[in-house]
Amino acid sequence: MRDVAVIGIGMTKFGELWWRNLRELYVEAALKAIKDAGVDHLDSMYVGCMTSGLFCAQEHLASMMADYLGQKHLAAYRIESACASSGLAFRLGFIEVASGMSDIVLVGGVEKMHTGADATYCLAAAADQDYEAFHGNTFPGLYALIARAHMAKYGTTRNQMAAVAVKNHYNGSMNPNAQFQMKISIDTVLNATPVADPLGLFDCSPVTDGAAAAILCPLELAKQYTDTIIKVVGSGAATSTIAVHQRDDITFLDAVHMSGKRAYEMAGLKPEDIDFAEVHDCFTIAEICNIEALGFCEVGKGGPFSEAGNTALDGKIPINTSGGLKSKGHPVGATGVAQIVELVEQLRGTAGGRQVKNAKRGLAQNMGGSGGSSVVHILEVQ
Ligand code: COA
Repeated sequence: MRDVAVIGIGMTKFGELWWRNLRELYVEAALKAIKDAGVDHLDSMYVGCMTSGLFCAQEHLASMMADYLGQKHLAAYRIESACASSGLAFRLGFIEVASGMSDIVLVGGVEKMHTGADATYCLAAAADQDYEAFHGNTFPGLYALIARAHMAKYGTTRNQMAAVAVKNHYNGSMNPNAQFQMKISIDTVLNATPVADPLGLFDCSPVTDGAAAAILCPLELAKQYTDTIIKVVGSGAATSTIAVHQRDDITFLDAVHMSGKRAYEMAGLKPEDIDFAEVHDCFTIAEICNIEALGFCEVGKGGPFSEAGNTALDGKIPINTSGGLKSKGHPVGATGVAQIVELVEQLRGTAGGRQVKNAKRGLAQNMGGSGGSSVVHILEVQ
């Protein structure tokens, strides 16, 4: 297996972008990544997208995106794993370069969610149709069940969950690509409109349009393109039951744990070796469950750990320095590669006001549905 490096990144601004369509969002991010890398050709492309069929009545993204990138005859693939679609696209591009099949691979993700389609209905396609969505459960509803169970089992409080949102909005206030760039207080979160009790508006990631892209190549070749070599040292993926009720313990995201374990094993690293991480905070409780499943704190202690400031920019393990899904936004199919974009910014030292000091190793964790799939990558600056 060859070593693999990330040599280019690009993303669009995230937000409610009614005037932009699916293809132009993707092409903008891809062209930015190509320019950033300085490559003059692509060998293949992986496009992560969750549900362009339901949102935009547009499938066949491999052809469309290669076409609009001006890449006739490119080997291209569309990858779907709900909200983990582009995390998985990144993993497949990594495998293709590592295997020796291709040298220059574009991995990206896109979602156009403001189209007039019912976003809650479209997103529910990532849940179990027969046992969850058919009965009216939604993603805020499913994560509310997880939050209630976590509160009952471990004593997690509303204030602890609110601390996650306040921290992510603070980080996002320094990210020009973020959908929401306003700082908020604990009171903003606690007094917000209820969405699915105990989760309110500010416990939820928003509905977002956007795209992100990255260029991968063999580590040996990377030296021709950049002086800042960023190596992919770990990659792990895992699935779990699609329906929440079929898990032994709904407070423990076992797919996240397994994908993290596999990435740590591949990298020969432990959670304490990671300097900062982007985790899938689609809801505040999800960030708490994810930092537990990834071993950044003890299981059951994610609430007090977050409230005590350990996950802040200057904390023990800065989490979601980009603003996370909560503040940066969550165009579902684009989120996984957008996390990689933040890792690369931090490792290059170009993250501006949200820069983590001595950032040498970052972890990205991207999750599908209510934890039915998860993919983890660890990047290290050489
Ligand atoms: N956080 C903070 N503010 C938000 C927000 C969020 N998540 N979502 C919307 N807003 C703001 C809007 O900017 C708007 O503000 P304005 O009145 O100042 O312009 C206001 O709230 C109303 O926005 P609207 O788009 O009408 O919200 P909504 O009620 O239709 O949707 C949610 C709110 C929380 C239901 C929606 O964002 C949602 O479903 N989020 C979860 C998405 C999801 O499940 N993703 C998959 C995860 S697995």
